[in-house]
Amino acid sequence: MPSTHAPDDLVIHPRNLRFGTEGKPQRWWLNGDPVATAWHNALSITFPAGETFFIESVRRFQKEVPEDLAKQIKDFAKQEAFHTREHNEFNARVEADGYEIASEVARVEERLREARDQHPVGQLAMTVALEHFTAIFAHSALKNPALMAETDRDSQRMWAWHAIEEIEHKSVAFDTYVHVMRDVPARKRWGIRCLVFLNVSRNFITSRWTETLRLLEQDGITGWSARWKLLGYLLGNPGVVRRIILPWLAFLRPGFHPWEVDDRALIGDAQARYGLEDEAVAAE
Ligand SMILES: [Fe+2]
Ligand SMILES: [Fe+2]
Repeated sequence: MPSTHAPDDLVIHPRNLRFGTEGKPQRWWLNGDPVATAWHNALSITFPAGETFFIESVRRFQKEVPEDLAKQIKDFAKQEAFHTREHNEFNARVEADGYEIASEVARVEERLREARDQHPVGQLAMTVALEHFTAIFAHSALKNPALMAETDRDSQRMWAWHAIEEIEHKSVAFDTYVHVMRDVPARKRWGIRCLVFLNVSRNFITSRWTETLRLLEQDGITGWSARWKLLGYLLGNPGVVRRIILPWLAFLRPGFHPWEVDDRALIGDAQARYGLEDEAVAAE
């Protein structure tokens, strides 16, 4: 039985790209919209510590998985390490725009410290859950470039680059979990991943909601007005969370696998749109 259900010709290509060299984007860099900007800044704030945790939790099992999956883990870890570096840079620019983010970073790190007390398989299951989130957000972002239409080219490219690589490595943590749990009855394996997913989903949404509101407060957008605007952005128009509800639900089905949706066509489109083709990348 193959150790991964990823497409045979899948390439997980770590692109060692650097962004932010074209100067600082405007404070409300995403379409000039404070709410969209705050939501994405809140996501970016979690990435360096979060992705470091993802790498640790998957790499721990690298030696015990079959060779093809071990190779995928290596490339996954490289991609996430580059993302960590670039989001650190990006977050420094958010700070340079006058936002206080140190307390948010500290809160994320505190939550991850608690996560590291969990059993290694529990930590892996958390990563599986969060990798599903990043993969479906990535799919939605690449499918709807209008979401970032009025955004500076450098930021567009950085977020598209990240989304492309999240799609490429979307099944690595999942397949590692399936392998590590191979002796556990399928029903129990499914039950654990779903329970962890529901718990992680609740924490993910409530934490990002709170962090976004704290960032908006720094723009003087507070109280019910802030909540209402954020709710509109997430569930109304453009509805960045509304757009991922169905793929979010798909994870709960027994037998789900991240590659049951082969969305690699979105990668090609985005590479062409943002000048991220392999030749262009090699020339950087
Ligand atoms: Fe990433
Ligand atoms: Fe990832």
